[in-house]
Amino acid sequence: MHPIQELVPWQSTENLLAYPVLTGAEARLAWRDLVRPFARVALVADEHVWALHGASMPGLEELPRHLVPAGEKAKTWAQLGSLLDFLAHAQASRDSLLLTLGGGSVSDLGGLAASLFKRGMAVAHIPTTLLGQVDAAIGGKTAVNLDAGKNLVGTFHAPRFVLADPAFLRTLSHEEWRSGLGEVVKSALLAKAPVWQTLDQHAQALRTPAGLGDEALSRLVAGCVVTKAQWIQPDPTENHARKALNLGHTFGHAIEHAAGYGRVPHGVAVALGLRLAVEASARSGRLADPQLPGRVETLLQRLALPLCWADCEAGASEPLTLDALRTGMHHDKKGAAGAARFVLPIDIGRVLWDVPLPADEVDALWRDVLLA
Ligand SMILES: NC(=O)c1ccc[n+]([C@@H]2O[C@H](COP(=O)([O-])OP(=O)(O)OC[C@H]3O[C@@H](n4cnc5c(N)ncnc54)[C@H](O)[C@@H]3O)[C@@H](O)[C@H]2O)c1
Ligand SMILES: [Zn+2]
Repeated sequence: MHPIQELVPWQSTENLLAYPVLTGAEARLAWRDLVRPFARVALVADEHVWALHGASMPGLEELPRHLVPAGEKAKTWAQLGSLLDFLAHAQASRDSLLLTLGGGSVSDLGGLAASLFKRGMAVAHIPTTLLGQVDAAIGGKTAVNLDAGKNLVGTFHAPRFVLADPAFLRTLSHEEWRSGLGEVVKSALLAKAPVWQTLDQHAQALRTPAGLGDEALSRLVAGCVVTKAQWIQPDPTENHARKALNLGHTFGHAIEHAAGYGRVPHGVAVALGLRLAVEASARSGRLADPQLPGRVETLLQRLALPLCWADCEAGASEPLTLDALRTGMHHDKKGAAGAARFVLPIDIGRVLWDVPLPADEVDALWRDVLLA
């Protein structure tokens, strides 16, 4: 039996999450059975994804449909308003379901609209990006952006089901694929050992969206889903354990901000953040597995993810300054008292959260690890 199945088959997410997450070839075809309990069903889809995959989803074209601009452009206050107007025109009610088709941008927007419309209607996701399948569609966080910053307006609104079909992932661009891979590595670091082993075993094949077969890819996605569910279950609204899922993100957000949003794919910035976080654990004497920094480095290399700024595509043409990184970190600070707080990995499946690091130690990490 495959290691992830030994760990926990996907069905077991039902014990961890209040909704089913189906992974595997043809998972997307299950939507017809799963929407039966709802009086009406409406669809919101990324226009690019709809053009690529809409026709391959029997019956979906019959639903009232609202298309939104591809990617992050969907996550605006104006798009939220248009989607709510569409739901009103479609005569949606509290016993209706809004189905989302697309990446994390569409599930974030659709989830927020569903949580607001008539004070809450049901939502379900068909994530079409790797990041969406392993992360954004799971856990019930919703959001749109404001000029003042990303994800500033949002709610917690759990989906009724999630259908993660590997067929969607085959058409992802190299950049979107790599972005998802960074989150998969994060997930493997937070998971029980078999997820890491599976990722390690298939690292070479995972360099491209078409490299790994449906079955192995679906098992990997399932392992990530279960991992996210395991960290959410004790803390759905992120007061303690759920914070572990921010692993790599305090550093990663600072890198995204310093480089200019959109210059580095989010998950690639997270991959860099993982390396910085594990080095921070090593330098502060917190590691339970002294081999962990080497293991993270080797895996990132095998997946062709960058280890430092010079390895990034943007890094080839644009330098990143320590000042810009400091500003980026300040911008993202999430700690209660104003100081940045970090999630530090100490072994596979074990992390510390809410760890403050002195500013001079963070500066040294930027210099020695990212900008070296
Ligand atoms: N709610 C959460 O818990 C959570 C977690 C992580 C990320 N997010 C959010 O998710 C968003 C990022 O989502 P994302 O990375 O999934 O991408 P996305 O939804 O922004 O889409 C990125 C691009 O990929 C394209 N695309 C999507 N599916 C495709 C497919 N199958 N084939 C070809 N192209 C496809 C889209 O058209 C778009 O151009 C961010 O706004 C982030 O804040 C939310
Ligand atoms: Zn992320």
